Amino acid sequence: MYRFIIKGGKELSGKVKVSGSKNAALPLIAASLLAKGRTILHNVPDLKDIQTMLKVVHTLGPIFHFENNKIIIDTTHIKSHVAPYELVKTMRASIYVLGPLLARVGKAKVSLPGGCAIGPRPINFHIEAMKKLGARISIKEGFVHARTSKLKGAEIYFEKVSVGATANVLMASVLARGKTVIKDAALEPEIGNLITFLKKMGADIQGKDTDTIIVNGVDNLKPVEYTVIPDRIEAGTFILAGVITRSNITVENIHPTHIRSLIDVLERMNIKLKVTDDSVKIRSCSDIRPIDIKTAPYPGFPTDLQPQLGAVLAAVPGISVINETIFENRYTHVPELIRMGSDIDVEDHIAIIRGKKRLTGAPVMASDLRGGAALVLAALAAKGESVIQRVYHIDRGYEKIESKLKNLGARIERVKN
Ligand code: EPZ
Repeated sequence: MYRFIIKGGKELSGKVKVSGSKNAALPLIAASLLAKGRTILHNVPDLKDIQTMLKVVHTLGPIFHFENNKIIIDTTHIKSHVAPYELVKTMRASIYVLGPLLARVGKAKVSLPGGCAIGPRPINFHIEAMKKLGARISIKEGFVHARTSKLKGAEIYFEKVSVGATANVLMASVLARGKTVIKDAALEPEIGNLITFLKKMGADIQGKDTDTIIVNGVDNLKPVEYTVIPDRIEAGTFILAGVITRSNITVENIHPTHIRSLIDVLERMNIKLKVTDDSVKIRSCSDIRPIDIKTAPYPGFPTDLQPQLGAVLAAVPGISVINETIFENRYTHVPELIRMGSDIDVEDHIAIIRGKKRLTGAPVMASDLRGGAALVLAALAAKGESVIQRVYHIDRGYEKIESKLKNLGARIERVKN
């Protein structure tokens, strides 16, 4: 186990290049199961969650090579249809193999993922959709058991927008017999990225970037070479690192259109930005104003940037209010921010933040990925030294975070416990 030691209060400077998107790459690795042969993925971040997804796919038979952010995966042979608990419990996105396995081999046995720090994270939408597509499903002994002779197209709609369920239905329906209509589909860029990937494989899909996606099943798909989109959440996290340290840094290799909601929020906070087609530079943070925000499915303000924005607002004098509408418990970082001198009250899904001029360094502990990122941001701005325990949470979603921050001038060290 490692911890970060951060000496805060120092302005950052320079440029940082963002890695490929974890949440875009994970479904692509699963979708490679839909074709026989070698799939090549570029710009894949070297993260724990990516390694876990590759292990899950490898247990099903395929062999892979992952080096220098490039994955080569040969899915010619599927020898098993079982995704084991030992792997699935460490990463709930393992459920992404359900749709491709049903489409490719007609059966799947996937461990129930279990919850995580931010909420129970059920998969009922995934299960109901697979049943509508013709799978016979039973839940027993902690596993989803699914079988089908051949999936058939159906009309699928979700009571709540779900990124994962939209991805799973897309991957199941591309080889189904007939037409599938997905209503209330997630609009996240990671879904658009998956649709582009599947269409390159030969899938027949209309409605990319809309909430109604139409899939006409085809007989087979071919393996392709593809480059993963940049990570919009890492991009937003680094922009917020610049804001909290009042630094004029530039975040590069991004699609600013994917973080339009964050840019709008920062401009409403009176922060001046220079936005190009692949970068965002912070020009001025003087006279920052507090703000009220609500998380929402894309293109709304992303729940995955809510903890990081909360850390920024904790150091903006005035009253800010955050309403977290997606997950049940996405304030695990708040008690740790309070240890750093923040004044925050959480009632149900609402956080009332009475921003202070200055936070102070303290020993704190990460409990989940984005909450951990929020603590890093707070520590960069706080006066004095902070020690952040359980950085393995942060390593799940941020490739080489301490070297990227060091290159911006941050005083951060990774130390073995
Ligand atoms: C994806 O999770 C992301 N993970 C999450 O990022 C992100 O926070 C989330 O989408 C929302 O944008 C990956 O892409 C790997 P959902 P997912 O299904 O697909 C409820 C990170 O930090 N729901 O869109 O699991 C669910 O509980 C991670 O990188 C059901 O009730 O999220 C939540 O309240 C954290 N039943 C809401 O829907 C279901 O079957 C949205 O969840 C599925 C979801």
